[in-house]
Amino acid sequence: MSTPVYLPREDSFMLLEQVKKYSKGNVLDMGTGSGIQGVGAAKTAKQVYAIDINPQALVAAKLEADIEKIKNIEFIESDLFENIPKIKFDLIIFNPPYLPDEDFEDPALFGGKRGYEVLGKFLDSSADFLNDEGHILITSSSLTKRHKVLEIVKNNLLELETIETQHIFFEDLYIDLIKKSELLKEFHKNKISDLKYFNHGKRGMIFTGIHKDKKIAIKAKKDTSKAPLSIIKEIQFLKKLNKYDIGPKLVFTKENYFAYEFVVGKFIMEFLEISSKKNIKQIILKIFDQMKKLDDLKINKYEMHHPLKHVLIDNKNKVTLLDFERAKYSENPKNVTQFSDFIISDNLKNIFQEKNLIIDNRTIMDYARKYKKEFSENIYGDLIKYIKSL
Ligand SMILES: C[S@@+](CC[C@H](N)C(=O)[O-])C[C@H]1O[C@@H](n2cnc3c(N)ncnc32)[C@H](O)[C@@H]1O
Repeated sequence: MSTPVYLPREDSFMLLEQVKKYSKGNVLDMGTGSGIQGVGAAKTAKQVYAIDINPQALVAAKLEADIEKIKNIEFIESDLFENIPKIKFDLIIFNPPYLPDEDFEDPALFGGKRGYEVLGKFLDSSADFLNDEGHILITSSSLTKRHKVLEIVKNNLLELETIETQHIFFEDLYIDLIKKSELLKEFHKNKISDLKYFNHGKRGMIFTGIHKDKKIAIKAKKDTSKAPLSIIKEIQFLKKLNKYDIGPKLVFTKENYFAYEFVVGKFIMEFLEISSKKNIKQIILKIFDQMKKLDDLKINKYEMHHPLKHVLIDNKNKVTLLDFERAKYSENPKNVTQFSDFIISDNLKNIFQEKNLIIDNRTIMDYARKYKKEFSENIYGDLIKYIKSL
């Protein structure tokens, strides 16, 4: 049974009005359906690529182009960007299917279980196909979870402006104009693709991306117009600490952001919960080793008494300390003592007991207190010996 082709409706006509205004250069008409947008765009564009997952739609769209005597249009059967040539477009158009449906029966209407999945997938890839000054025109509806659409736009470092709304029957229709944020342009200039928002720290935002076929993380301030002091300082600390194999490996640094190797691993609590006594001891010793190095360098990392999001352990048991945005030089660095506090904290008591790892709090506290006073190698050595003996 063939899939029906979407006949132009209010949403199509509303979108077409905007397509006529923005069409130029290379245009991609995603989900061309009857071909209404692609054919409309071709009148002012240099070249149009009309795409659909439904081969029947491509037959219909081709017929429409022939009737209108349009030559500068090419038709490609593709699931979103799968078969699209890797060129940059000046305009990308998508009037997506947006009704929620579990079965995905008709790709012209149903956008996935929640309605916005096809649009979300489209937005996740579209920036890599867009010229820096290019535009994306999409339709969406009050029947689609719009806050989700806005979130996906933001997570892809894009900016959205609603340029038209209309109330039709039981829904509101929106035409949104989307473009790259300045930050995204900057990242693309530096050959980073597949950019995604990852999370944010207190001062910086973290993104992931692909650079020279490797996954990287990028830390930046949202507004890159000025280089914030915290980013400059963190770059300096990481450059120094990387020499001692501490911190994530810097890949490159710019004035206002830096990229480092993306570390795949478990945060410390999860690691401790699932690991054997032997592995836990090994990791505690490795972390102490890095704490001692930081103390020797007179760098206070802070937060090591509660380093839940600051220590990652990979599947080869390599420890990576994350996040040096609060680090400071100090005559009395507290890394060893803070981490000592952590291992005797109530948080860990039960976990350690389950693994038969019995740590005497007083002993650790005594060593930590003495060490803090004199920064003595011998006392640090005793602390390590005690942990090894457990
Ligand atoms: C709402 S219709 C829009 C048709 C036309 N562009 C318009 O404005 O009238 C959505 C179109 O997207 C196509 N489509 C749905 N999922 C797709 C996917 N994953 N890849 C490419 N096209 C898809 C459907 O086949 C359908 O032709």
